[in-house]
Amino acid sequence: MKALVLSGGKGTRLRPLTFTCAKQLIPVANKPILGYVLDQIAATPIKKVGLITAHETGHFVEEFVTDGSKWNLDICYIPQKPLGLAHAVKTARPFLGQDSFVMCLGDNVTGQGLERFIKKFRTEHLDALIILKEVNTPSSFGIAQLDDHGNIIRLVEKPKTDMGNLAIIGTYLFSNRVHDAIERIKPSWRGELEITDAIQEMINMGCVVKAEVLDSWWLDTGKKDDILSANAQILDAYVQADVRGQVVNSTVTGRVRVEEGAQIINSVVRGPCVIGRKVLVENSFIGPYTSIGDDSKICNSSLEYCVVQQNVTVHDVERLEESLIGKNTTVTRSSRGRVIKLNVGDYSELAV
Ligand code: TTP
Repeated sequence: MKALVLSGGKGTRLRPLTFTCAKQLIPVANKPILGYVLDQIAATPIKKVGLITAHETGHFVEEFVTDGSKWNLDICYIPQKPLGLAHAVKTARPFLGQDSFVMCLGDNVTGQGLERFIKKFRTEHLDALIILKEVNTPSSFGIAQLDDHGNIIRLVEKPKTDMGNLAIIGTYLFSNRVHDAIERIKPSWRGELEITDAIQEMINMGCVVKAEVLDSWWLDTGKKDDILSANAQILDAYVQADVRGQVVNSTVTGRVRVEEGAQIINSVVRGPCVIGRKVLVENSFIGPYTSIGDDSKICNSSLEYCVVQQNVTVHDVERLEESLIGKNTTVTRSSRGRVIKLNVGDYSELAV
């Protein structure tokens, strides 16, 4: 079995960050989202991974993943025009050959490993196993309808009528029969070859298409608020108290990871949060669910529920909340006493 990880796409909903970075590389708890996806694949017996990339951001992805040896995976880069998830599979056909494969989206993270799904797919000799999750707003998702045996009988993209609440989350296992289905489908109204259409076609072809419902959290980091909640979720799930940097005249409480070379001076830090390498936090408050990227400087400021990427300076800002701040950015104060909320790309300068 192989793995196909989709790290291409347009990332329009995360602009301006995606003008200068692949969205799959936006850090959550100071680690690119794609890193969590590759960790989950590395925990299975799969070794060969095809990594779909887009022309604009592929080099960033390659810089981070390199040859995959960090994960002990064998990576094959597959450049693709962003013409849909089924188009990505079609483009990867030479890499996939006749093998079955697990397909993951590079910007989706779940709290559950892949092993259980791989085992079910193999032992039940399935043509497709689609992972689903209950959602509160089915009309915003691709929704699957199941029979009593867990077979998928119908898929509808953003249904207008009640079809249940089991959404397709972006983890799929396929046999090579998916390729025949993709050959038969046409681009949708948005000009993309849709994977939901390919799965529906597999059902029409009489393939065995089953579903499994995820019993952990699932996060799709496609928008700013999703990144902030993914950050909070991952800090909650994985961060342990681990202070490697220097703490001087400060209070650090709860699960806080302070990386090597970081300095916390005259400050209060309340976990869960991560303070990256060589970060300086001085005369400041860092509240729960905040990640501060390497080499950043937070002085005379107060931050809570924020994702701050590498090499960011925040100076004299009374209160920064629910903010996502791109790399190499400077935020300073120009007037007192207001809460501000930001969505800032790389290389920005703000006086607030
Ligand atoms: P989406 O978030 O559905 O699409 P997008 O990346 O184009 O984003 P936006 O809607 O904000 O413009 O894609 C899900 C994942 O699949 C994401 O990691 C990007 C990847 N992808 C590809 O690799 N190739 C594609 O053709 C598409 C559409 C997405």
